[in-house]
Amino acid sequence: MSKLVVLQNYFLLWIYLLHICCDVSRHFHVSAKTTDGSLGLEEVTFPPVFVPSSDPTVPAGHLQMFGLQRPPNGPVVEYNTVLKPQQFWETHVSQNRPLVFRQALVDSPALKKWTDEYLKEKYGDLDVLTELKTENRTHGMTSRMLLGDFIDVYADKNLYVVTVLPDPMRQDLPVLPCIMCGTFKDFLHELNFWMSSGGTRSVIHFDADHNVHCLIAGRKDFMMINQEFSKYLNVTQPPQFGSGFSIANPDAIDLNLFPDISKVEWTYSTLGPGDCIYIPSGYIHQVRSYKGNRTISATMLFTASIDNSFDNSSCENETYEYRPLSEANVHWTYKKGDKTIDMGYQNVETFRQSILASFENEKFLTEERFKEIIEDMFEMDEHDLQAIQRDTNKIYREFLDPSGKGYVTREEIKALSQDTLKEIARRTEPPHGPVAGAPDDRGGAYKASLEKDADQNEQEIEVEGKDEL
Ligand SMILES: *[C@@H]1O[C@H](CO)[C@@H](O)[C@H](O)[C@H]1NC(C)=O
Ligand SMILES: *[C@@H]1O[C@H](CO)[C@@H](O)[C@H](O)[C@H]1NC(C)=O
Ligand SMILES: *[C@@H]1O[C@H](CO)[C@@H](O)[C@H](O)[C@H]1NC(C)=O
Ligand SMILES: *[C@@H]1O[C@H](CO)[C@@H](O)[C@H](O)[C@H]1NC(C)=O
Ligand SMILES: *[C@@H]1O[C@H](CO)[C@@H](O)[C@H](O)[C@H]1NC(C)=O
Repeated sequence: MSKLVVLQNYFLLWIYLLHICCDVSRHFHVSAKTTDGSLGLEEVTFPPVFVPSSDPTVPAGHLQMFGLQRPPNGPVVEYNTVLKPQQFWETHVSQNRPLVFRQALVDSPALKKWTDEYLKEKYGDLDVLTELKTENRTHGMTSRMLLGDFIDVYADKNLYVVTVLPDPMRQDLPVLPCIMCGTFKDFLHELNFWMSSGGTRSVIHFDADHNVHCLIAGRKDFMMINQEFSKYLNVTQPPQFGSGFSIANPDAIDLNLFPDISKVEWTYSTLGPGDCIYIPSGYIHQVRSYKGNRTISATMLFTASIDNSFDNSSCENETYEYRPLSEANVHWTYKKGDKTIDMGYQNVETFRQSILASFENEKFLTEERFKEIIEDMFEMDEHDLQAIQRDTNKIYREFLDPSGKGYVTREEIKALSQDTLKEIARRTEPPHGPVAGAPDDRGGAYKASLEKDADQNEQEIEVEGKDEL
């Protein structure tokens, strides 16, 4: 399937090159296969140069890559220093406005140290989740393997590491000053690690959470689209809260099927090593990297509080000195030996707030009410219910009301530890991330095969509703 997509891309590229004939230098140039059989660097002009249609019956960009249907509105706003949390909140997060921080990772060890040799030597024994380079949310594949094994084969396999950043690797990255204090600090819930030999492309999608995506190696191109245009992109809303994607193929936009895509306004940014882009929760984006250009990224996911307020009291004495990400409190983490890699779960502090909000007008949370809340919050199909064997009565008795008094107070919910909330989330949420693990894993996983040597081209396992890509 992916091979076909690749061939089709080449075909489209050639059509495109013919079409623009004398202007080749400004456009795509794909270098020939090198003698060892691996593809050389693919050179790409981004943003792509819009070419008006010469045929009045065919709109511009028909069957071409996403971006050629309309010229961009300009680049994403950029800063050369990282904003402080209060300003980040006021001018961007609360305004649903993306931004780019150039060279935000300039002082971080990862930028200099993360060669393949170093990563394999130091972190090779840690597990990562992998998927295919060409994202497809209806037909995808995830599996779990050692980072060291991935590094041995990734140059010529269709594999993309998209995983929870393993705990030990956090020491090589910084806590970005923009999320060092204030509400962001308590609401940092997941970190991700991404690695490929280049040639990845996401679908056009949005995620539930705010996301700072930082590049450590290589190049990634981002197209950014305000969610007000989601109706033109035929964006689906999977059953789980907060994320969705367009069913349009970003490599070949069929304007017969999606006539309104020409109306979709977009901005763009190219990230290089050390640069970070902030993608607001719900903001639509599409991301590419290019063949032969090894890319590594780290992302930090956070949520604003559910009442959309920002509490800056913890910023009072903040010095904003460099500190490693290992010092941050992150809700969902992975370390060697963990049975599950919990990816795509919600922020546990938001979960706590949602539970509290759900019985705002009542004094106590009863077992019956808890069941209603959970069923309301996380609608699930049979398949998912089976997978996690949700039992709200048992959860209530075990975690919320262990003494069996029959009710739970607001104070008791506020006092629940994050670990307890995580366990409740694991047992109540539908799986909404590519999580794989042991056969008896209860982490909300689609049990993907542990195929190590898989050239995953040939394999397809249905994975629904992936998150945070
Ligand atoms: C590959 O990545 C580097 C940054 O590491 C960038 O300078 C270069 O332009 C990229 N090359 C291509 C062909 O994308
Ligand atoms: C995903 O894969 C299916 C089946 O191969 C295909 O019909 C669909 O167009 C693909 N979607 C995207 C967005 O590439
Ligand atoms: C996308 O949405 C538009 C408007 O709702 C509709 O006319 C069109 O048929 C949809 N396309 C597909 C492929 O579902
Ligand atoms: C900031 O420092 C002052 C003086 O040491 C202290 O009284 C105050 O509680 C501190 N504020 C926070 C939020 O830690
Ligand atoms: C906290 O917010 C208030 C207004 O909401 C502002 O006056 C104050 O400067 C902020 N403090 C910090 C440290 O940003």
